[in-house]
Amino acid sequence: MTALWTSDEAALATGGRNTASWQASGVSIDSRKVQAGDLFIAIKGPNMDGHAYVGSAFSAGAAAAMVMESANQDGPQLTVPDTGEGMVALARHARSRASARVAAVTGSAGKTSTKDALALVLGRQGKTAATTGNLNNHWGLPLSLARLPRDARFGVFEMGMSAPGEIAPLSRLARPDVAVITNVESVHLEFFKSEEGIADAKAEIFTGMESGGTAVLNRDNRHFERLRRHADAAGISNILTFGAHESADFQLTDTEIKPAHCRVSARIQNRDVAYTIGAPGRHWALNSLAVLAAVTALEADIDLAMAALADVTPPKGRGSRTKVSIEGGSFLLIDESYNASPASMRVALDVLGAAPGRRIAVLGDMRELGPQSPALHAGLAASITANNIDLVFLAGENMAHLATALGRDGGAAHGKDSAAILPLVRDAVRAGDVVMVKGSFGSNMAPVVAALAALGREACAPAMAGER
Ligand SMILES: Nc1ncnc2c1ncn2[C@@H]1O[C@H](COP(=O)(O)OP(=O)(O)O)[C@@H](O)[C@H]1O
Ligand SMILES: [Mg+2]
Repeated sequence: MTALWTSDEAALATGGRNTASWQASGVSIDSRKVQAGDLFIAIKGPNMDGHAYVGSAFSAGAAAAMVMESANQDGPQLTVPDTGEGMVALARHARSRASARVAAVTGSAGKTSTKDALALVLGRQGKTAATTGNLNNHWGLPLSLARLPRDARFGVFEMGMSAPGEIAPLSRLARPDVAVITNVESVHLEFFKSEEGIADAKAEIFTGMESGGTAVLNRDNRHFERLRRHADAAGISNILTFGAHESADFQLTDTEIKPAHCRVSARIQNRDVAYTIGAPGRHWALNSLAVLAAVTALEADIDLAMAALADVTPPKGRGSRTKVSIEGGSFLLIDESYNASPASMRVALDVLGAAPGRRIAVLGDMRELGPQSPALHAGLAASITANNIDLVFLAGENMAHLATALGRDGGAAHGKDSAAILPLVRDAVRAGDVVMVKGSFGSNMAPVVAALAALGREACAPAMAGER
C-alpha cells in the first residue's frame, strides 16, 4: 500500500524540515482522535494549542507530528513555520497529485446529508474520499483534503460558512469539478443583511472551479437566477438544475413519503425514472436529485447511483430514527437535534406528519436568525397545524413566539430551555407515538434525545435481568 504521506513528500509540500523519515496513512488535528499511523498536526487555535498534545498523539500511535517548534518529544517531527499553513500546503499538494474528480457541496441546509449520500453512491463505483462529519470550515476542509488518497477516483467535500468571504478560499483549495448548492435559506441572518447576501456568499464556490466544471443548482430556490448569474460570471457554462420546477434537468415529479423511506419519481434529462431513497421527506427527494446531477457531472453511472440511494439513511441528528421499547410497545424517536432552520423545521414537520401514530414535536430555538427571528419562529405554526401534530413541546425564548402563535388551544407546552421541558415530554410519551426532536445545536436538544432513548434501556433492564 502506498502511504498517504511520506516525510519527503510532506517536506516538499510544506517546505518544512524532518527530524527523521516517516510514512503516514492518515492525518489528524485532534490528539483524541489520532489513529495508529496518522500524521498529527499541532494546530495553534484561539483556545487550544495542539503542541501540548504531541506526546498524547505519539502515545496513540501517530507516525509523525507537524509542529512549529520542537515539541521535545521522541518521534519523527516535521517542523514548519506555521502548522495551519502547513496543513493548507498538504491540502493543496494532495489535490494536485490526485487524479480524483472532486465535488464540493455547499448550501444553507442539507450539505452534510447530500455530501454523505453522494459519497455513498460514488463509493459503490470507485474509491471515494469524503469529508468526515461536518468538517467544512477553514480547518475542516484543508484537513479533509490532506486526507485525499492519491489514487481516489472521487472526492466529495462539504464547504460551510458563516460570513462572506469564507467559501472562496475553500473553493480555490479544493478546485472542484462539480459544485453543488443545495439551497439558499434564511440561516446565519445574523451575519448577513439579506438572503441575497447569503446567495452571493454561497456562489463563492464557483471561484475556484476547474475549467469545464459543472454547477448543480436548485431550480426551485428563489435565488436560482442570481446563482446562475454568478456561475456565468465565473465562466461556468455547464449548469445542471434539480427541483420540481418544470424546466429542471433533474425534475422531481412525485414524492411518496413513507415512514422510513421515500419513493421518488423524477424526469432526469428527459428520462422518466423511479427509485427509493432510504430516508423520508421531500428534502431527501431533492437532495437525491442533487446527488444524481452531481453523479452525472462526475461522469459516474447514474443507474448504479439510483440503486444505491436505497441504502442512504439520515445521518445522526439529521433525521436518524430509533425504535424505543417501553411499557406496552415502543415509540419511534426521530433525532433532528443537530441543526434547525425554518426550512429544515418545515420539512421535518412534514415527515412527522406522514408518520402513523400520535405525533409529538419537541422543538428548540432556531439560532442566528437575527431580527426576523420572532416572526420565523411564529411562522412554524402553519406547518404544525397542517401536519396534525398532536402534542407540541417548545423550549427556549424564541420558541415562546411559536407558543403564542399556536394560541392557548394549540396544545403547546413551553419551557425556558430543553431541560425544563424534558420531564413533560418524558411523562407524555406512550407506546405508538412518534416523537421528533429538533432545534439548533446550541439549543441543546441532543440531551432530550438521549434521555428519551434511555427510556428504552430503563424499560428493557428488568426484562433482560428476568431472562437470565
Ligand atoms: N434539502 C434540504 N432542505 C431543507 N432541510 C434539509 C435538507 N436536507 C437536509 N435538511 C435538514 O436540515 C438539517 C441539517 O442537515 P445537514 O445535512 O446537517 O445540513 P448542513 O450540513 O447544511 O447543516 C437536518 O435537520 C436535515 O434533516
Ligand atoms: Mg453540515
